[in-house]
Formats: sequence, structure tokens, C-alpha cells
Amino acid sequence: MKEFYYKKGNLFAEEVKIKDVANHIKTPFYVYSKLAMERRFDQLKNSLGALRHRIFYSVKANSNVSVLKVFGSLGSGMDVVSLGEYDRAKAAGIAGKDIVFSGVGKTKYEIQSVIIGGIRQFNIESEPELNLINQVATEMDKVIDVSVRVNPEVDAKTHRKITTGTKSDKFGVSFENVKMMFEKGTEMKGVSFVGLDMHIGSQISTLNAFRLSFSRLRKMTLELKRSGYALSRLDVGGGIGIEHNLNGDSSIPIDSYSALLKDYFDDLDCEIELEPGRSLVGNAGILVASVIYPKLGDENNFLIIDAAMNDFLRPALYDARHQLLAVKKSSKKENGLFDIVGPVCESSDTFERSVNLPPMQSGDLVAFSSAGAYGAVMASEYNTRPLIPEVLVSDSLYAIIRERPSISEIIRRDKIPEWL
Ligand code: LLP
Repeated sequence: MKEFYYKKGNLFAEEVKIKDVANHIKTPFYVYSKLAMERRFDQLKNSLGALRHRIFYSVKANSNVSVLKVFGSLGSGMDVVSLGEYDRAKAAGIAGKDIVFSGVGKTKYEIQSVIIGGIRQFNIESEPELNLINQVATEMDKVIDVSVRVNPEVDAKTHRKITTGTKSDKFGVSFENVKMMFEKGTEMKGVSFVGLDMHIGSQISTLNAFRLSFSRLRKMTLELKRSGYALSRLDVGGGIGIEHNLNGDSSIPIDSYSALLKDYFDDLDCEIELEPGRSLVGNAGILVASVIYPKLGDENNFLIIDAAMNDFLRPALYDARHQLLAVKKSSKKENGLFDIVGPVCESSDTFERSVNLPPMQSGDLVAFSSAGAYGAVMASEYNTRPLIPEVLVSDSLYAIIRERPSISEIIRRDKIPEWL
């Protein structure tokens, strides 16, 4: 079965006609294909073959509890960066021993809470954080596994806002500091140093940056092992890019990525931990919206749709281009260039410029491809626009997996002090 496709000119997700969903749920909304997630997970898993590994789906890419449940039932662990994400993973039935906690700013409260709830390992990003985790764990009479996130000083050649592995980025520590932290760790009672961690950026489209960073990680591992430290885990992060089109593949063949992992790490006697996000969910989702008005201008024509930058921020924030699709293909010829814009009062609320489109009218449905990752999770209520629903499709079934809050619920969260 296909994931997203056209049948008689109509867009489908698995066996569900998108138009039928839009007849029941007000646009805009996200639609995810369960099959698409499963296929991508299995593809990665199979390509890793005999390499001793564990996949920790990166919750930040799409943290809907149903999505987490899909990956959990495939055997995935979870990579989280906040107590909120940790609690979501728990709500999806994931055990603490299957969760790794990454991120540069874990608070004392978060550290305490996840130690109580159970955690496989912390990926440590700084010396003060190491000290705090050690202190908290010691107070709780626990010994917690930690890996140190090393900054491999590799430019992933991706958008500058999503690169993380260069010297000037806030992430990880230099190899010199890693050694110093391992040394210090031998004196610590609350932590056990189990490995190294790395993540060089996201939406990476060539193997080169991975090759360079893997070779550095290998070198560091061997050096630490020579110094007598028993490393048993290597976390290589996520970052594999995707093509932005319907059913798009990853920009790097998954087999080549896995082959690289095997080349560099197979003989090190370490369990390889992966934290993929986008490559598992990005092309498992689309964003469906309706045309509000076509607006013909002197210089530009605009197609004003009911989705906006608050619902899907990637085009405004990273100049990302996601393929625009008609939910029902038109038999009419393209006859004009349109900028696709939302109703938010900012010029950056633009999804695409100068798209050649057939005539469109109010109520026509459109969709953006590749919106399953960093779509719903980055949405806000700017302009008091409620968060939009998420819909999960499996075969001929579909269900709302996040509801749209009412405007009155949003307003009720605001409080007017009695002295006002
Ligand atoms: N592990 C760590 C420590 C991360 O920081 C990230 C993503 C991942 C794994 C997952 O990376 P992925 O496989 O999804 O590339 N909002 C941006 C992406 C930010 C990614 C942040 N970290 C976007 O929309 O492109």
C-alpha cells in the first residue's frame, strides 16, 4: 500500500481520502501515516543489521503521544530534552530504562524527577551539569549512567540555525574537556561514565559531515579506552535529512549511513545509540489547509490560506520549501504565479513564492508535503490562533490524535488580577 498518493485526482493518505477528513475536521490540520512511520523505522533497523545498536526516536520531531506509541511498539526507545517530553514518552508506555535525556539545560527539578521515574542515561553537555547530576544522584543514593556529548567541530553544512557541531555552537564539550570530565568522574559517587554522545545538526544532506564526525568519535573512543575507561555506548545523535516531496526519501540513502556506522564502530565493542527524528516522521506527515481568498495584486498575486506561520513555522524560520499539493488535482491549466501566504500579520508568513497554479477559489483544499517533523511541535498560538488538530491514519481508519482547543479555553488561561 502507498502512504500518500493520488487516486482519480484525489489525494489519499493510505486508504483515507483527505477530502473526507476535511469534511469532518475544520482545516488546517496535520495528517500522519502510521505506515510511513513504520516503514522508515523498519528500513533503518534492517539496514543496521548485525551492528549492536538501539534506536531512540527523537521526541522533539513530533511528540504526539500516539506517534510515540507507534515507535514504542516497534521497539524504539526515546530521546528526550525536557521533563515534558519525558512525561509524554511515559504516557505512551515507554519505560524509563528506554529513555535517554539530552539537552544543554537540564534543571535540578528535571534531573530529580527523571531519576525518580527511571532513566537509561543522561547525555551531559557541560561540567556544571555533570556536577549537578552527580550531586542529585548522590543525595538520592543512586548511580546514574552518563555519556558526555562531545562537540566534534564539524560543520554539517546545513541551515545555520540547525547546525550544532561547530566550535561556536552551544552544544557539547571539546575533547580536552571530555577527558577532564572522565577523569573527574572516577571520583564521583553518583554517576557512572558509560560512553560518548554526539549530534552535529539536522536536515543533513551529505554523508561527508557524518564521515568526518564518526571518524573523530572513533578516535576519541579509542583514546579514552587506551586511557583505561570502559566505554560501552556511543550515541551518534540524529540529523539525516529528507527530500521535501510527497513520499520523499531521506536525502542520504539509509543503507549508506548505516554502512558508515558499521565501518567506524562495529569493532569497538560498544552499543551504538541512534537518535533519529526527522528521517522517521518528516515524510510521514502533511499539512492540509483551505484557500481563504485568492488575492490578485498589481505586482504579486497571493493565495491566502487558513494555515499560517504559527501552525507551520519552518518556511518562515528556515526559508524551508515544502511541496504545495492540490488535494484535488485541477483539470484547468496553470495560469498565474501566486505567493502562498497565511493570515498572520507578518510578511514572513509566506510558505512559497511565485508558484504557478491553476485558478483556485475559496474553499479549495491544499496540502504541504513533509510536514510530519518539526511541524505541530513548533506551532504557537500567535494571533490567538488555536493549535491545529493532528490526525493519524492507519489503513482505512483515521482518528484525531490532538484536538483543536476552543478560543474560550485559550482566553480562560489568561488571568485578570483583582487589582486591575
Ligand atoms: N538528537 C539531538 C540531541 C538533537 O538535538 C536532535 C535535533 C535530534 C537528535 C534529532 O535530529 P533529526 O534526526 O530530527 O535531524 N526545528 C528544526 C530542527 C531542529 C533539530 C534539533 N535537534 C527544523 O525544523 O529543521
